[in-house]
Amino acid sequence: MLILLDTANIEDIKKGIEYYPIAGVTTNPTIVSKEKTDFLKLVKDIKNVIGDNRCLHVQALGMKAEDIVEEALYLNKILGENIYIKIPVIPEGIKAMKILHEKGIKITATAVITPQQGLIAAMSGASFIAPYVNRIDNISGNGINVVKEISQLLKIHGLNSKILAASFKNVEQVHKASLAGAQSVTIPLNILENLLYHPLTDSSVDNFIKDWENVYGEGKRTNNL
Ligand code: E4P
Repeated sequence: MLILLDTANIEDIKKGIEYYPIAGVTTNPTIVSKEKTDFLKLVKDIKNVIGDNRCLHVQALGMKAEDIVEEALYLNKILGENIYIKIPVIPEGIKAMKILHEKGIKITATAVITPQQGLIAAMSGASFIAPYVNRIDNISGNGINVVKEISQLLKIHGLNSKILAASFKNVEQVHKASLAGAQSVTIPLNILENLLYHPLTDSSVDNFIKDWENVYGEGKRTNNL
């Protein structure tokens, strides 16, 4: 299982990699625009913070395959190791995926709403397929079922692409996506923190400290008795 941070906020990324087992970062044009800063500087800064061992997924914006290919090659060149170019599953995007795959560029198929979009992207060379769970749920679809069916399709047809489930608004969606066969999820820091939070865990920890300190003294720990 891989957990990626779905943000371009440097502070969130720093905190995320300090505390959690983060495999990488995903951005999209909306996420980047929220930071209201120079795009290239921002993605280079993110790259510096996460290093070469974590992956960075950056979206190409072109609407024609040739433009997407040009942007992808440029981003891949300036950002270096472990870069995945996010390309939406529109026809021009699929055409671009095939060209870029031939050139050895790593691709994440994005804005995936249906299982068949995911299948076609996998057949066109995408390493990751990103179904948008919450956006699907928002139009009365079933985001988790889409994750499950993409997982089945990849297995049935022997495709090596992995699912990078995206667009989450709560911990239950993340939990269900992991059970439905997603090998990776991308989530904002607040949802990651909520995955770990439980009031019963916190009260258990508080009681451990209280019981211990009642006997061994305030501020005493196992290494300073
Ligand atoms: C990930 O890379 C996607 O672009 C992102 O998760 C979409 O999330 P949203 O539906 O919350 O905008």
